Amino acid sequence: MILWDNGACRIVNFINPFILVYPYLQTQKKNMHIDIITVVPDLLSGPFDHSIMKRAQQKGLLKVEVHNLREYTTYARAQVDDYPFGGGAGMVMMIEPLVNAIEKLQQLRTYDEIIFLTPDGKTLNQPMANRLSLKNNLLMICGHYKGIDQRFRDHFVTMEISIGDYVLSGGELAAAVLTDAIGRLIPGVLNDETSALSDSFQDNLLAPPVYTRPEEYRGWKVPEILMSGNHKKIEEWRHEQSVQRTTERRPDLIDPA
Ligand code: 6GU
Repeated sequence: MILWDNGACRIVNFINPFILVYPYLQTQKKNMHIDIITVVPDLLSGPFDHSIMKRAQQKGLLKVEVHNLREYTTYARAQVDDYPFGGGAGMVMMIEPLVNAIEKLQQLRTYDEIIFLTPDGKTLNQPMANRLSLKNNLLMICGHYKGIDQRFRDHFVTMEISIGDYVLSGGELAAAVLTDAIGRLIPGVLNDETSALSDSFQDNLLAPPVYTRPEEYRGWKVPEILMSGNHKKIEEWRHEQSVQRTTERRPDLIDPA
């Protein structure tokens, strides 16, 4: 996008390559499989059973499977964590149940990425979600307690992702966020394919404001331009609004410091 200010032209971002290849990818519809390993499977029993994630699964474009780590431990009382070597507060998830779970699942599928959800991972953004939506099989591991044995991270995990600079009690909600961000991008999931591309962030711009009926409510009117039927003018107005919103709210998207 090119932004004009004070007559000077400045390129504020580059063409998102995802937008260029997306029409082709739409013709390559395939079933994506996301396996999630957790010690709290109940936390993930709802998020994918509604709305767009539900439709994606009904259409056979996405399958999300949640696995209970406790089913893979050989320790007594389904133990999956233990005290940290060297002392300190909190428990650490043991490597053995995790490897048991992964190796069992790897007999069924070859994973493109084995993702560990952790606050010290790389912060999730739209380009990461775009890239991951092109994969076939993903495995997500939800961390809990103090963390997981570093040897598991070193030898099995291929990607570490955080969903933001704050701490959650476990990786489950982050896995739900990541799955949703990826799932809605799978070609064929959204009815109007272009709508995934007009999302905020796909072009480093926030989405413009939207309105629906009634045309006037308590004296608050819908901007006249939207009622004009002039599609070219409407698109221009929306773009201006996007630029204005982004400038005000997220100047970092326009001018990465
Ligand atoms: Cl992926 N996990 C946890 N526990 N906290 C987080 C996070 C992940 N991302 C942001 N905070």
